[in-house]
Amino acid sequence: MNKQEELERLKKEMEMDKELPLFGQANLVFGEGNSEAEVMFIGEAPGFHEDKFMRPFVGQAGKLLDKLFLLINWPRESVYITNIVKRRPPENRDPLPEEIEAYKPYLKKQIQIIDPKIIAPLGRFAMNYFLPDFKISQSHGKGVILRGKIIYPLYHPAAALRATAILKELEMDFKKLPDLLKNIESARIEEKKEAHKQAPLF
Ligand code: URA
Repeated sequence: MNKQEELERLKKEMEMDKELPLFGQANLVFGEGNSEAEVMFIGEAPGFHEDKFMRPFVGQAGKLLDKLFLLINWPRESVYITNIVKRRPPENRDPLPEEIEAYKPYLKKQIQIIDPKIIAPLGRFAMNYFLPDFKISQSHGKGVILRGKIIYPLYHPAAALRATAILKELEMDFKKLPDLLKNIESARIEEKKEAHKQAPLF
């Protein structure tokens, strides 16, 4: 089975898993993009438009994300985009810890299949999934090695839409991505020991 087929199979598994929170209340937004992607962007949870179209980042935040890809000349289709929680929480409330936990085995498998070199969590929920004790204001745009992959936290595009200062930071961090990928072996990145006690995330 190739990666695309493995992802399809995983998606079918998720569609049938009635134990998943928000099952039957919202559509599954599994994720999309290049199954061979070197970079994977991971947001928080789908919103109204994502639920409607069953695609990640297609609302206002997604439009900004598209602009950021243009800024660095990366076609959106060249990367993989998904969320930690794959169904829309009611009223766009924050995902609950038990929702994040319940979707974890699927995200873990998705990451294992794609096996990207860089994971770019968008916003604090996605960042704290990988780096529980980190603060987004301090850690955005700074790569950290975790289990051989670079975790490169970014501000959430929705936050950037609310504050110009954050938008500028997000643009600057995005512009560093091509070099980070090019110089991946030699990048001087702080090694993050597996200090946290949780089960492996990928
Ligand atoms: N915000 C997210 O975190 N994910 C989406 O897919 C859309 C908006």
